Amino acid sequence: MLAIIGGTGLTQLENLKITRRQVMRTPYGEPSGPMTFGTINQHEVMFLARHGYGHTIPPHMVNYRANLWALRDQGAQRIVAITSVGGIRDDLVPGTVVVPDQLIDYTSGRDFTYFDGKDRPVTHIDFTQPYNEPLRQQILAAAKRAGVKCLDGGVHAVTQGPRLETAAEIDRLERDGADMVGMTGMPEAALAKELGLAYATIAVVVNHAAGRGESRDSIPLETIGAVMIPAIEKVKDILEFTVVSDDE
Ligand code: HPA
Repeated sequence: MLAIIGGTGLTQLENLKITRRQVMRTPYGEPSGPMTFGTINQHEVMFLARHGYGHTIPPHMVNYRANLWALRDQGAQRIVAITSVGGIRDDLVPGTVVVPDQLIDYTSGRDFTYFDGKDRPVTHIDFTQPYNEPLRQQILAAAKRAGVKCLDGGVHAVTQGPRLETAAEIDRLERDGADMVGMTGMPEAALAKELGLAYATIAVVVNHAAGRGESRDSIPLETIGAVMIPAIEKVKDILEFTVVSDDE
């Protein structure tokens, strides 16, 4: 089954016909909220709001391990994760929707692996391609069918937050090759890979990264909501077509 992890601005899907909600407990604690099950045009889908349904959990406090574990436990095989980012690359202006193909992890102090038990053999996963390519292509094809402009590829930097970056930090991320910056892409992507789940991200650019464009002197946080609302509508259209094409 396809699962959607909703980020900031996406705590529910209006076109999702909810059939049941399930409160979960995992060996890693509780996920961000109950799993929501439902259908979009008769196609089954599972939904979880990463920051909780009231948007109360900051990026560094999300129990990523419990979230991914619970999704897999309930039968998720593919996960489309929605995340908001700041744009670093020139064409990633606010309102842009992009499906990244690479990431760089700058987070610290998060519970980032399932393979940390003393009772288990040392395990390394291959993470050369952090996102599942068939799922990325499924999303891009869905965007095309939905008539939504969606950029293909880019390097997603993931910072610790919850503060935003300094202009010099963004300069450094750019030198590293980053095109966009968010706070929730890791360890989510790696944990999905550890569990053998196909995982891809739809990133919504909600502001110019620090020191860029209209964020030259400061990030205009008050304008993010206005950018987010129409962009999330685009994401919902993409998701609808992604879900519908999932078992075709
Ligand atoms: N930086 C980090 N995370 C973000 C940003 C940003 O500029 N915008 C939205 N999430």
